[in-house]
Amino acid sequence: MSDEMMSLEQVKEYYGQTLKSSNDLQTDACCDPSGMPNHIKDVLRNVEDEILARFYGCGSPIPHALEGRTVMDLGCGTGRDAYVLSHFVGESGLVIGVDMTDEQLAVARKYEQSQAKRFGFEKPNTRFVQGYIEDLRSLDIADNSVDVVVSNCVINLSPNKKEVFQEIFRVLKPGGELFFSDIFADRRISQELQRDPVLRGECLSGSLYIEDFRRMLRDVGCLDYRIVTSRPLGIENDEVEARIGMVNFTSATVRAFKLDSLEDICEDYGQVATYKGTIENSRHRFVLDDHHVFETGRPMRVCGNTAAMLEETRYAEHFTILGDRSTHFGAFDCSPSTNNPTSASNDEGGGACC
Ligand SMILES: C[S@@+](CC[C@H](N)C(=O)[O-])C[C@H]1O[C@@H](n2cnc3c(N)ncnc32)[C@H](O)[C@@H]1O
Repeated sequence: MSDEMMSLEQVKEYYGQTLKSSNDLQTDACCDPSGMPNHIKDVLRNVEDEILARFYGCGSPIPHALEGRTVMDLGCGTGRDAYVLSHFVGESGLVIGVDMTDEQLAVARKYEQSQAKRFGFEKPNTRFVQGYIEDLRSLDIADNSVDVVVSNCVINLSPNKKEVFQEIFRVLKPGGELFFSDIFADRRISQELQRDPVLRGECLSGSLYIEDFRRMLRDVGCLDYRIVTSRPLGIENDEVEARIGMVNFTSATVRAFKLDSLEDICEDYGQVATYKGTIENSRHRFVLDDHHVFETGRPMRVCGNTAAMLEETRYAEHFTILGDRSTHFGAFDCSPSTNNPTSASNDEGGGACC
């Protein structure tokens, strides 16, 4: 068996056999629901208990403006996020959950009819597919067919992350969004630690060094990504902490768009963006990332990349953008302090932008 296959089998075993519920996890990688927006908490109250009990995510990768969209959840597990997304895309949308582990998918599939009923839909708008996130082609997911790809604490587990990002950017439509929560490391982690089944399964030793993540996105043509939220990860297990050494982990939610127009640093074209306040559940402000919080009706100077993220994506109808790229004024200072005093922020270093 190849190293890659062995790693996948190890992870399957961890999520199919070893863990029986979120309580079995050995770190606090799982997110604390108290920080979750109310509109998501409200939907979770309408999700089956068995699904919730086997949630192993590390964030809440549920973006706005989803109605009628096709969303794919990579490593959907028992389907917590997939069902929240199912509510937000509505009956005219579709959620495709992909996972490789039978036991996880069995729980997700068990509730397809009852969840649709709970949300008031005539028939399910979900599809749970067994397969590998490194190879969506073999699941017949066509090029340019998905509006939004989400994932919650899964990509770190993949033994071939390059293939995962290639597949994501293949299946996304132009202007489509990758919105995912995951664990990132402040350095590359040794192969030996990566092979440890517990450290790997707990979403630690497979985590991407943040600069390698930036490079992987660059290699699939994505020159800018944005950190939406982030928090340092506490490892509340002495044994695990002793084994992992000096590596510092961050749990972050990140967004990136499939856009040809992004540049590798922020450039100033004198553009201004104003949020119209028209996104459901986000009437007063729209948070693009940890230092771009658009208050409704308040014009904000933006770099060319931010303008593209707002006007060449599904967010376009919710923004007025003044200006284009016809005149260049040099590099744009997009740092949190200069750009947005009301930022949602935390102090994690940003993406390629800012
Ligand atoms: C940490 S759990 C997260 C599950 C789910 N996203 C959640 O938030 O509860 C990781 C999930 O990803 C799946 N997974 C890991 N690597 C995978 C891969 N390469 N292809 C498909 N599924 C994978 C596992 O089977 C498991 O269900």
